[in-house]
Amino acid sequence: MRDEFFSSSFILHPSSFWNFMSNELIAIEEEEHTAQLTAQTLRRILGLLKPHWKWVAGFLVAIMLVSSFDAYFTYLNKQIIDEGIELKNPAAIIRIAWIYGAFLLMQAAFIFVFVYLAGVLGERVQYDLRKTLFNHLQDLSLSYYAQNAVGRLIARVTSDTGRVSELLTWGVVDSTWAIMNITTSLIFMTVINWRLALIVSVIIPIMVFVAARFQKYILVEFRNSRRANSNITGAYNENIQGVRVVKALGREDANLVEFQQLTTKMYRASYRAAWLSALFLPTVQIIAAFALGAIVWYGGTQIQIGLITIGGIQAFVSYLTFMMWPVQDLARVYAETQHSIASAERIFKLADTPPDVHDRSGAIAAETLLGEIEFQQVGFFYEERKSVLRDFTLKVNAGETIALVGPTGGGKSTIVNLLCRFYEPSKGVIKINGRDYMDYTLESIHNKIGIVLQTPHLFSGTARENIRYGRLNATDAEVEAAAKIAGAHDFIVTLDKGYEQNVGESGNLLSVGQKQLISLARAALAKPELFIMDEATSSVDTLTEALIQKGMEALMKGRTSFVIAHRLSTIRRANRILVIEDGRIAEQGTHVELLKLRGHYYRLYTQQFRHELEAAYGVAEDSVDDSRKNVTADSVMVKR
Ligand SMILES: Nc1ncnc2c1ncn2[C@@H]1O[C@H](COP(=O)(O)OP(=O)(O)O)[C@@H](O)[C@H]1O
Ligand SMILES: [Mg+2]
Repeated sequence: MRDEFFSSSFILHPSSFWNFMSNELIAIEEEEHTAQLTAQTLRRILGLLKPHWKWVAGFLVAIMLVSSFDAYFTYLNKQIIDEGIELKNPAAIIRIAWIYGAFLLMQAAFIFVFVYLAGVLGERVQYDLRKTLFNHLQDLSLSYYAQNAVGRLIARVTSDTGRVSELLTWGVVDSTWAIMNITTSLIFMTVINWRLALIVSVIIPIMVFVAARFQKYILVEFRNSRRANSNITGAYNENIQGVRVVKALGREDANLVEFQQLTTKMYRASYRAAWLSALFLPTVQIIAAFALGAIVWYGGTQIQIGLITIGGIQAFVSYLTFMMWPVQDLARVYAETQHSIASAERIFKLADTPPDVHDRSGAIAAETLLGEIEFQQVGFFYEERKSVLRDFTLKVNAGETIALVGPTGGGKSTIVNLLCRFYEPSKGVIKINGRDYMDYTLESIHNKIGIVLQTPHLFSGTARENIRYGRLNATDAEVEAAAKIAGAHDFIVTLDKGYEQNVGESGNLLSVGQKQLISLARAALAKPELFIMDEATSSVDTLTEALIQKGMEALMKGRTSFVIAHRLSTIRRANRILVIEDGRIAEQGTHVELLKLRGHYYRLYTQQFRHELEAAYGVAEDSVDDSRKNVTADSVMVKR
């Protein structure tokens, strides 16, 4: 039980994690934008439409026609009243009815056109953005993934691309429609009576301004409530997944308090949003009512002078009442644009991040990695001034098996990360076959390396597909041969559907050990020249470990291998064992040589041995003294 706690990742209090995450997200969302930046981003957003300008032109024309027809209909109403009803002229009514009908039909056709075009355009913009980002994410270096909560970022990016394409389609549709509608209405009003039109044109900006304010606050509160909601979901998730930790540490009450704070936050935000929404329309209506009052009052005097007809007054009243909708649309688009710009900025920022590790100009393809590999006084840091490796020097011959052991944080993974060129040295050089490996293309290095990590990663799909991922053109027979080498074949055939068994999302339907065997098979299929295992056996039971061990040995034959392991049984057979401490080689040699030295390795070995015996005979681990825990800290953690 105790060991499981140490091996789980819940070192932090569970809720502090999502608190941190959500604060970070809030910080992203609430970033302030300078006007200049906004204009720049807006220009870039509009630039996304460039490749599709024909579609854009098409739907803009359609939407403009649709909206001017709307204004025209109100004008036709006026004519029906003035020319038909007032003058009792049925012929005029019939004539106008025909015009009405014809324009309605045309409008229907144009509505179809713009809805269709906007839909297609939205999809295209999203497709472009997602493709660009996906491509870019694949290019980004590991350092980027280490520094950014990429899972969340990707989730954001998918919703961000949605929001940007929404702005570019429906945002453009709505605002074009609204602006056109207001403009054409004003033109018709001016034709009817320019003095009254002047009154209306003063009122409209006030309405738009008030509406925009409202929409902005409503949107903010909705977002607050949605954010609180996702935090609540997060809290559920974390607490349920970490339920054992929560219980063991007696954190139920404290968690409940935090949970209550969250729900209160959500309640308040939703309450404010509802309150503002309810207030919004009446307020705009009151402003419109003032305008209506002014029109009816002033218009009445104009009727007497004969400057306006009854139909004219009626038309003004309709225009003004109807204008609520374009005004509301404009306000909404305006409020949403601000957030879409923030979304676009996140997208552009991601798209603009250059990968740290990339091909140098004039890089050539590495022919083979099977040759001498040399670290020459390599220095490395992840963060400025926090050196992980200093003057690390190592020479490895083709086909050698190198084992790396030592305390957690010593730099073992860093060494293999550099070797794989997931990161590049900050100082010194790494040479492969006598040549700086930066002279080679990344692709030619990466496709000759096979890696098995502590947490195997499978993709959803069948067992066969997952193994084939190692070499896409491998035949079924080759896949199975690789599985046999890795020792995965025996368990795969016991699955319901054998090789065709679906392994579930990220392989969740399999045990860790089984996933590990499949990832070994995948590595075996790829026939790498350089083989790397980073604590591949650390989180599996001893039985599976023995299986993996066998697979590993088959895999390492004829290749240069780097193995990081805590089980000494795994590394005993290596050609050379390096004890890595503080980014340096504290000791190196074969198992026997190092034992004779009676140094770090000797201590590690004897303690581990004792530990294994103690575990086997059920001796309490608590009796183990603390100094030992420090040395082999993670071998204690990962032992089950
Ligand atoms: N992505 C990273 N960003 C910053 N520091 C890191 C990163 N990865 C590892 N480190 C730090 O580098 C040191 C060496 O880590 P690592 O190579 O993973 O050690 P080991 O594999 O021996 O446990 C540690 O101090 C660790 O905290
Ligand atoms: Mg490590």
